[in-house]
Amino acid sequence: MSLTTPPNESRDQNRNAASPTSSLTTKVTMPALAAMKREGKPITALTAYDYPTSRLVDEAGIDLILVGDSLAMVVLGQDNTLSVTVDEMLHHTRAVRRAVRRALVVADMPFGSYHGGISEGVANAVRFIKEAGAEAVKIEGARTELVRALTDAEIPVVGHLGLTPQSVHRMGGYRVQAKTAETVLQLRADAEALAEAGAGAIVLEGVPREVAAAVTASLDIPTIGIGAGPECDGQILVFHDILNMTFAPHAKFVRQYADVSAVIRGAVEQYREDVEHRSFPNDAESYHLPAAVREAVEAELAAPQLKVIAGIHKV
Ligand code: KIV
Repeated sequence: MSLTTPPNESRDQNRNAASPTSSLTTKVTMPALAAMKREGKPITALTAYDYPTSRLVDEAGIDLILVGDSLAMVVLGQDNTLSVTVDEMLHHTRAVRRAVRRALVVADMPFGSYHGGISEGVANAVRFIKEAGAEAVKIEGARTELVRALTDAEIPVVGHLGLTPQSVHRMGGYRVQAKTAETVLQLRADAEALAEAGAGAIVLEGVPREVAAAVTASLDIPTIGIGAGPECDGQILVFHDILNMTFAPHAKFVRQYADVSAVIRGAVEQYREDVEHRSFPNDAESYHLPAAVREAVEAELAAPQLKVIAGIHKV
């Protein structure tokens, strides 16, 4: 591994050369998202959970990278998001932080990390900023008191309303929300209350397009939609969904941009075949002794008393 894994500085030398969009260098901040809304510029967002994928997402010019608790499902293979811990989320957020230069890095606060009380929520959010380098945290639900406390603690907050996956048991499954007049009005009131409490943006998930459009129009802060139609100020999707790496049928709102599963499966099968047929590694993929050393070794191996030296093979 140490022979092939470059140290950070050589990774950084490749950074701009590897990026097709290296002109997109201005750091994205929470105030910049509000400015994008004012200027009518769509905000691009994706989840990411590790160094290589975050780096590719950042270099592709995505504005916001969410280290989502969806990692429980798409990376850790769990059935829902509830089991992922603060320490697991911190571990992944640190890896993303190392990779990202331009995008705003937002860490998802996992289930249980802010449900017990305001001070516990603030303490856990501080860990994401201090220990993992996140620039904002995301919390689900209309928790205005917590948003106010986080804002007072200088921690930018992204809210999350509509289909909130941490409420899966209360909702009775992953269902589109805000489908009655009463729940539409409640959603709009919740969004306004979050904005008033200091949230810098709100993710709207799994709500009818008309509802997201109305909420978006009523707020000064940006909305970022997932399954919420095109009128939101920005869009977010789960990285593994757009690349067909989730091993499950896609939700209606997912657009698949590539079949990376097929690429990986094909490459790995080819590698297996090459090893099985001894066509990997070839001579060019092997290390060689310098000619003088090789000749000396060959001479020694030719001497009968040295032929028994264990582990030395003719090269
Ligand atoms: O965890 C996640 O990936 C999310 C997005 C779906 C917004 O919360």
